[in-house]
Amino acid sequence: MKGSAGKTPIATNIALDREYALGTNELYHVFEGFIPEERLLAIEPDDAFPQIPDDVDIVFDLAGSLSKGTPSIRSAIEQSDLVIVPIYNEVKSLNAGIHTILEVAHFTQNILVIATKLQKKKRKGNQPEIFLDWKDSKDCQNIAETVQKNVDFPVPILPLKSSNAFDALFEKERSLQQMCLDDPLLAHSYREVVRQFNAIYHFIDQKHAQ
Ligand SMILES: Nc1ncnc2c1ncn2[C@@H]1O[C@H](COP(=O)(O)OP(=O)(O)O)[C@@H](O)[C@H]1O
Ligand SMILES: [Mg+2]
Repeated sequence: MKGSAGKTPIATNIALDREYALGTNELYHVFEGFIPEERLLAIEPDDAFPQIPDDVDIVFDLAGSLSKGTPSIRSAIEQSDLVIVPIYNEVKSLNAGIHTILEVAHFTQNILVIATKLQKKKRKGNQPEIFLDWKDSKDCQNIAETVQKNVDFPVPILPLKSSNAFDALFEKERSLQQMCLDDPLLAHSYREVVRQFNAIYHFIDQKHAQ
């Protein structure tokens, strides 16, 4: 899916935390130097990824559109256990996300939507909305409803709040969890988003075990 939903920061965080290899089809990627060379697989959009050995774990950061038959995207999706589609609560992202899910569904129904960049909406009287779990936020609920209305099979959805931790990730070249271990103050501010990522890892591990 095109631009700014958070594919690159989410893929990078997964690669750093899980020590997965990282595959990218972006010509101007940002991974040189902090993803070890032997774990970085950078190809051009019109090339196909090689067959990844069964004992190698890899996360792909895929830019572009599957509908054009882009070989890099197709070859990655064909060998993936799980396709993660990040969607945020704006019309262009909802449209692109649903389009992506429908295209990916031709290859696999192992899809996880990450409802991302979630923010607390202001209620009447300028009060921020109140909830216990980010899945109950207006942003997440609208993403979930819009996806289920447009896709005729159930798609699991996990929440991820908006956070400047994702910018710090590229400055520090450390995962959110690693930054928290380095700095107890950050551990406090990033605690919720780290918890949300752990739920994503739990989901990945369950898929892997199947
Ligand atoms: N919860 C979140 N998930 C992903 N990105 C987020 C989140 N909150 C804020 N961001 C910011 O949104 C931007 C999305 O990253 P970007 O590289 O534009 O995505 P993509 O790789 O999909 O084009 C980054 O600047 C990131 O810091
Ligand atoms: Mg990107």
